Amino acid sequence: METAYLNGEFLPKNEIRISPDDRGFLFADGIYEVVRWYEGFFFDMASHMMRLKRSMSEIRISWTDADTFPFVAQELITLNILQDRPALVYLQVTRGAAKRTHAFPSTEVKPTVYAFAKGFRPDSETMASGIGVILRKDIRWSRCDIKSVSLLPNVLSFQEARDLGNYECIFVRDGLITEGAHSNVFFVIKGVLYTHPESENVLSGVTRKNVLRIAREAGINVREIAVPESRITELDEAFITNTSSEVAPIVSIDNKSVGNGNPGLVTKLLQEKFVAEIRALKG
Ligand code: PDD
Repeated sequence: METAYLNGEFLPKNEIRISPDDRGFLFADGIYEVVRWYEGFFFDMASHMMRLKRSMSEIRISWTDADTFPFVAQELITLNILQDRPALVYLQVTRGAAKRTHAFPSTEVKPTVYAFAKGFRPDSETMASGIGVILRKDIRWSRCDIKSVSLLPNVLSFQEARDLGNYECIFVRDGLITEGAHSNVFFVIKGVLYTHPESENVLSGVTRKNVLRIAREAGINVREIAVPESRITELDEAFITNTSSEVAPIVSIDNKSVGNGNPGLVTKLLQEKFVAEIRALKG
């Protein structure tokens, strides 16, 4: 029996009910966060908490108990007996339930706070051999820095990638490569590591931030500059980052090989260093 969290209570998941007037359902008026459980600890919970609070403040949702989230997440791991398994904890926060009108509720409404944990099996074979991606127009809104639950463009683009046998869809906006449907993207050209700078066009990935730090510590030349789509033929290496996949090498874009068609050396180095950091944290 799965246990989830709703508005202060841990409940059997199949007993949880959310109002049809919830603004998350009616308007996608909410944000979310995802943290990775590494069989003993959550990786960089502090950065996830900072992003959670920023997302809420940008859309003016006030969840006054936000600081309880690390405890809620830990409890969900325990209650669902996931302590010894790789798992993800999702948190969804919406503006709550109110009579339908675009404006925020005029009387004070409590946000709806829902969290659940799910075990998953990291696909180490795919992460070693690399992934294929497709490149498509960025059809999202102009505030991709907010981790909004309004993910329809991401869902449609990701599904197209999957329908074509690929792992991810990478977006292009005004000729510049931004990020993936559920990941940040990095490129290596002539030994220099590139990724889109933090801006309203990309999510500030927690994995992105840590990979940039690891790369700088390793003495890699890093430039937070967007790569134009026109330079795609010059790529020596490419990879995506996110909480569940960590560092995933890209070996093809729209069925054309990246570099020699195998995960690149810089990518593999960063993958190894990321995994080593996790191992060290496990102690
Ligand atoms: N997605 N960009 C987008 C659009 C994302 O949805 C994500 C994460 C990232 C990477 O962020 P982080 O490194 O903090 O996971 C970048 C998560 C995994 C998800 O939606 O499930």
